[in-house]
Amino acid sequence: MTKVAVIGSGNVGATTVQRLAELNIADIVMVDIVEGLPQGKAMDIVQAAPIMGYDVDVIGTNDYANINDSDIVVVTAGIARKPGMSRDDLLATNIKITQQVCANIEKYAPGSIIMTVTNPLDIITYAALRCTQFDRNRVMGMSGLLDSSRFASFIAKEMNCSVRDVNAMVLGGHGDAMVPLPEYSTVSGIALSKLMDEETIEKIVGRTINAGAHIVSHLKEGSAFYAPSAAIAAMVESILKDTKRIFPASVFLNGEYGMHDICLGVPVKLGRKGVEEIIELELNIREAEALQRSASAVREGIAKIR
Ligand code: APR
Repeated sequence: MTKVAVIGSGNVGATTVQRLAELNIADIVMVDIVEGLPQGKAMDIVQAAPIMGYDVDVIGTNDYANINDSDIVVVTAGIARKPGMSRDDLLATNIKITQQVCANIEKYAPGSIIMTVTNPLDIITYAALRCTQFDRNRVMGMSGLLDSSRFASFIAKEMNCSVRDVNAMVLGGHGDAMVPLPEYSTVSGIALSKLMDEETIEKIVGRTINAGAHIVSHLKEGSAFYAPSAAIAAMVESILKDTKRIFPASVFLNGEYGMHDICLGVPVKLGRKGVEEIIELELNIREAEALQRSASAVREGIAKIR
């Protein structure tokens, strides 16, 4: 049986464990520093198994030693946004937590694939890569698939059509400078520009960029977790089943898109080796400039952690 560790048993972590258990693809261990929290949530998830029909092991623990031999470690440990905060405001706290988590991953699961979720996502992903010194195919951040799912849901709403026919793409950093790509977004293969006017597309792009903050403004305490956990589960499934699905994710760029020494959201192929390929899209001038702006914002964060 394969094994997935989820670090952090808060909203994103615990919902991810639930989704992974329901996929029935791996034993799961959930780790948190708060005593009792991962244990209690794991018990609850195990007790749903007879009804939901999964038969994987789910354990909750405060001991990192239990992540040993994990195939994938999903990192959700850290604080989440409150209204008025940007993802970058979380950096000082979350970078320290990430360092602790990475030291434990290196110690107990040195052969694993790391999927970061903690914000600010691209900077945390970069930090995880530098801390562990894992090869870049084994470190990725979940962001682009979430942003693309949000973009797709708004397109479907606007079109009054099934979300299943929408394929949307968002590149760049997971922040206000993210780059939704209408040119690479389609409904049943039909380019978005053939289906709606420029103004409508701009409106949907704006909603996509603000989607996370909009949820935070409603929740007041904490940020989104249903859609983030759905994106994590889809990425984990593609890796474990070696499906080689192509999703945008934050990965270390080494010349791709003309960028070096940065983690940024780009389309990648996910299989048993992790990031098996980075797909380089041809971008028009406007898109390329937007990606550069997004990269600059991420570079500022990377400079801070240095
Ligand atoms: N090791 C393990 N768990 C930790 C550690 C640590 N060193 N530090 C904090 N945690 C745990 C907290 O105890 C808490 O249970 O991380 C959990 C975070 O849960 P929530 O506060 O509910 O936050 P959540 O909504 O899950 O978001 C987590 O993901 O999407 C991002 O921006 C979000 O950075 C945030 C992260």
